[in-house]
Amino acid sequence: MRPRLYRDSLRTATQAALTLACAVLLAGCKDDARSAVPGGDVQLGLRLVTQYQCGACHVIPGVQGADGKSEGAGPSLDYIGRLSYIAGGIPNQPANMVQWLRVPHAVKPGTEMPPMGLTEQEARHMAAFLYTLR
Ligand code: HEC
Repeated sequence: MRPRLYRDSLRTATQAALTLACAVLLAGCKDDARSAVPGGDVQLGLRLVTQYQCGACHVIPGVQGADGKSEGAGPSLDYIGRLSYIAGGIPNQPANMVQWLRVPHAVKPGTEMPPMGLTEQEARHMAAFLYTLR
């Protein structure tokens, strides 16, 4: 009977460990809910952000030459994936981010951020990349 008892307690310990792992994973998922951009590709996003020279106006980690030194420069994007609001007042969620990137003035009238002529798909990729910055 002894080995059986041992096996039982081993199983209980394994289950406890698994439960804990799941809890940690779930917490991680919840924290990342904001970063999931349907149809967004992080690598493509990085390439597009570089191509469109968003870095002229923004400091962007991982983007070459993105020093944000242009006239009309915007805030650094180094923690954009962690911020609760875009441009100070728009809830930082994927749909809002995509909209912001495409037509900033439609989301925040009078903003200094210019529309960059992005397609919806390009904005999705960019949003996916931006949410890795946290
Ligand atoms: C001509 C300069 C300029 C260019 C080019 C530009 N932006 Fe901006 N951006 C701004 C300014 C200014 C703001 C602040 C707007 C506000 O708060 O109203 C801003 C705000 C933002 C924000 C919100 C930041 C925050 O902390 O809330 C994001 C995200 C962003 N820009 C992404 C981009 C991306 C991606 C590109 C390239 C497609 C880009 N920007 C191109 C000037 C620019």
